[in-house]
Amino acid sequence: MRNLFKSVPVKSSEITPKSIYFSRRDFIKTAGVLAGSAALAACAPEVTEESQTQVPTTSGYADETGNAANTYEEITNYNNYYEFSTNKEAVASLAESFTPAPWTVEVYGMVNKPRTFGIEDLLKLFPQEDRIYRLRCVEAWSMVIPWQGFPIASLLAVVEPTSNAKYLRFETVYRPEEMKGQSSPFYPWPYNEGLRIDEAMNDLAILATGLYGEPMPNQNGAPIRLVVPWKYGFKSIKSIVKIELTDKQPDTLWNLLAPNEYGFYANVNPNVNHPRWSQASERRIGEFNRRETLLFNGYAEQVADLYKDLDLQLNY
Ligand code: MTE
Repeated sequence: MRNLFKSVPVKSSEITPKSIYFSRRDFIKTAGVLAGSAALAACAPEVTEESQTQVPTTSGYADETGNAANTYEEITNYNNYYEFSTNKEAVASLAESFTPAPWTVEVYGMVNKPRTFGIEDLLKLFPQEDRIYRLRCVEAWSMVIPWQGFPIASLLAVVEPTSNAKYLRFETVYRPEEMKGQSSPFYPWPYNEGLRIDEAMNDLAILATGLYGEPMPNQNGAPIRLVVPWKYGFKSIKSIVKIELTDKQPDTLWNLLAPNEYGFYANVNPNVNHPRWSQASERRIGEFNRRETLLFNGYAEQVADLYKDLDLQLNY
């Protein structure tokens, strides 16, 4: 696994000790210690000799500013995935029986070379990179997550968007028999998201296939999901089956439901409040005190240029 961080000022490899993987016995000991301090420990399933093989812990992972990564238990037991449940602590168990294989992603629309990729093609074609990113949910909580994946730009280079293509539309799998939440008529399923093509080409925007060196857990969007770390978490759509290149700004699930609350851009911005709560600060899962929220979630140097002609108050 390579540590690239091409566009992040400090390479993670410079500040992060080599990834540490514990033996099963050590992991169980460590998990016991962490359980006392982590806010979400109570929600995590009990760790037993039987239930745990070699699962990596938080140790040794930090973002480029030195913030420690959240634990594997936190990242996989506090999830927004409305296809399964609106209860973040129930998603992990409800997603257990989801089948992420076999899996294909169809890339089509305004491209010279439309193609349906098997997940194994994507893993073979594109080197999987380590990216330790902050994830800031629009609900004002956040985590630091060590993802593995590849830049969307690499995928676009293969399918060759035409000069008319201006946006990407992403679609989550629709399987109401496996995803009980999709039976709710309240949401316009399937979950859709979108990016402008220049946003998608930014090196920070990745399609993630794993976390903590493990294949993507079902509850985090197996087998492949978007991660755009400078935008609110709802843009990072899970379990993607379709990517369409189009000249029209795509309709997105949250924007359709509540356009005055969830804009198309959804850039993290402490100066633009959600109509029902402040976005000035956030709760990092596992921490007691709130942190200040950073413009573009701390990635302004990499992405601010994309929005130089945009009024961020209007285009929230
Ligand atoms: N993708 C789909 N298909 N369905 C969802 O409900 N929730 C979004 C996003 N992607 C969601 C989704 C929201 S609101 C957030 S904050 C992140 O996933 C959470 O990702 P995580 O559970 O991996 O932390």
